Amino acid sequence: MGGFVKLKEIGSIPPTMLAATTIADEILDLKKERRAILLAHHYQEPEIQELADIIGDSLELARTARSFEGDVIAFCGVWFMAETAKVLNPLRVVVVPDRAASCSLVEACPVEPIRAFRRENPDHVIVSYINTSIEVKAESDILCTSRNAIKVVNSIPQDKPILFLPDRNLGNYVKRKTGRANMEIWQGACIVHATFPARRLAEAKMEHPDALVVAHPECPEPVLAMADFIGSTSALIEWCAASEAQEFIVMTESGIHYSLQRMAPHKRFYYVANEHCNCSECPYMKLNTLEKLRDSLEHLEPRIELPGEIIERALVPLQRMLALQ
Ligand code: 13P
Ligand code: SF4
Repeated sequence: MGGFVKLKEIGSIPPTMLAATTIADEILDLKKERRAILLAHHYQEPEIQELADIIGDSLELARTARSFEGDVIAFCGVWFMAETAKVLNPLRVVVVPDRAASCSLVEACPVEPIRAFRRENPDHVIVSYINTSIEVKAESDILCTSRNAIKVVNSIPQDKPILFLPDRNLGNYVKRKTGRANMEIWQGACIVHATFPARRLAEAKMEHPDALVVAHPECPEPVLAMADFIGSTSALIEWCAASEAQEFIVMTESGIHYSLQRMAPHKRFYYVANEHCNCSECPYMKLNTLEKLRDSLEHLEPRIELPGEIIERALVPLQRMLALQ
């Protein structure tokens, strides 16, 4: 049926992975030589996750990046995540496989309007989703991720007006959950989650009547309204693994399948495709490849370089968020 994502085979080694065995060996050697740690987001290709020291959602990866033994962080995710790692490790080298691995939420939120908002609304608390540029983080009062956004907003005194940015779906979800009337929401969106059609989810539910629905809060409201559980990438994995149900319709990027299968090998997971690409893959996340990872470890490029002043300013809202855990 057209609305379903055809997954690459998981559980057996795909031919591309066999061909890549020597590259994987090179990466493991380079990791040792460079005293590097490899952090990978759940949306990375299986062959990258296979080599990672830590696989996680954006909050877990930020926490892990706080302290480790070694000189280099190779960050397989998107650029803003690697910038966060650099803020927490200013003296370490942070490399990424592909400089172009951005995020539609980062692109939707340039820093100038945020500075203008700050000047015109000095009483507002700016809560920034971690999916923002380092410059926007530096203008923010506190950061959040999809895992802790409700907790972060609840930590702000009720009488304080809030600007939540940049994801409108996450913002609206948090607003509904916290009941905060005085919360303005930036109108950015994720090109993957925001374009899941509720109609295709309804069809998937008819096709798999026993399946429970889990969804990332970047999905639109009509999709979230059909979900049995809403949470960050890792929270979805934990919930599916702990649930007594055997089948799930998973409303997030299909790279999550690798971790879902590892945590719950006997359960079945279905993915709903977007209308525009007929897939549910993040084109930014999928820019990273084993070859590019090997090259980044070999040449220590592309690497994150940030002015000290930006690091200092972005560290404040980041530490406020991490202190809430
Ligand atoms: P997580 O916080 O769940 O890792 O989400 C990050 C992200 O980019 C989702 O699209
Ligand atoms: Fe950004 Fe969406 Fe890709 Fe996540 S899935 S990195 S929010 S574009």
